Amino acid sequence: TWTTGNVIEEQVAAIREQVGGSRAICGLSGGVDSAVAAALVQKAIGSQLTCVYVDHGLMRKGETEQVEKDFVAATGVQLKVVDAQERFLAALAGVSDPEQKRKIIGREFIRVFEQAQAEIIAEAGPGEPVEFLVQGTLYPDVVESGGGSGTANIKSHHNVGGLPEDLEFSLVEPLRQLFKDEVRMVGQELGLPEEIVQRQPFPGPGLGIRIVGDITRERLDLLREADAIAREELTAAGLDRDIWQCPVVLLADVRSVGVQGDGRTYGHPIVLRPVSSEDAMTADWTRMPYDVLAKISTRITNEVSDVNRVVLDVTSKPPGTIEWE
Ligand code: XMP
Repeated sequence: TWTTGNVIEEQVAAIREQVGGSRAICGLSGGVDSAVAAALVQKAIGSQLTCVYVDHGLMRKGETEQVEKDFVAATGVQLKVVDAQERFLAALAGVSDPEQKRKIIGREFIRVFEQAQAEIIAEAGPGEPVEFLVQGTLYPDVVESGGGSGTANIKSHHNVGGLPEDLEFSLVEPLRQLFKDEVRMVGQELGLPEEIVQRQPFPGPGLGIRIVGDITRERLDLLREADAIAREELTAAGLDRDIWQCPVVLLADVRSVGVQGDGRTYGHPIVLRPVSSEDAMTADWTRMPYDVLAKISTRITNEVSDVNRVVLDVTSKPPGTIEWE
């Protein structure tokens, strides 16, 4: 019979057998899959695992702390945090095209991750080869990609301590037989924080693709505040299960006139995009209570400077995508 206890026991044994006395690396994204995969591997091989978290500065309020503090406290995992905020901001300066943003974020992410990887390899003791890379691949991903797996060739751009040009890793994929809801159950059983286990989908490029216009630190801070207010009120209203995800978008290139406090303002609109969906392929805008929308709107315009208008996106997918970029 299928129980989370059985799955954990089985996977722990399989991971121990696969990794043996070697070392493994796992990238954490803040999402459910990488967190549960890392927690399983940690349970199996403990300090032979090192996790890497690249802080690209595009996460929502509190999310980096969740990984750095709560996840580490819950699992005891060995974590290397790379603060790459300046690097990402510099690479993204002046870029407003969505696909360009994605390309830059993806490229910088790989570079930073590989550098951290090389450092971990250089620090490992003799007789402790770092041969394994942990990935949070789920069953639907396996089916979609035709079932292939095995090794990942990772090109090393950084010649740290005479490492070979091409490093080859075998993949450890302890979630390959699981669906998303099962992964959440396993995560819960492993004692991971609720905020991580129940997290709604959030794009890899993060808030970078929720600023329509170019990305600056000020705009990120502003969007982080507005997003935190929306999430807080949606949770307080008990709507987290009804809503698949709710992107909060800053229209940085748009200004509108408002009247606030002592007079006229010329600020930016924030868009709320609550959607209901089964798989993100199609979606509908969520008919959520007006009083919750009113509360979010009042709070954002009162508490976030430079925002004088909140608008609701009432477009289904198709024709609109879930994200604005
Ligand atoms: P769209 O906007 O295409 O989004 O309707 C569908 C789902 O995918 C997420 N999304 C992304 N996830 N990298 C990601 O990891 C991306 O570049 C990206 N773009 C969209 C989106 O949040 C939604 O869940």
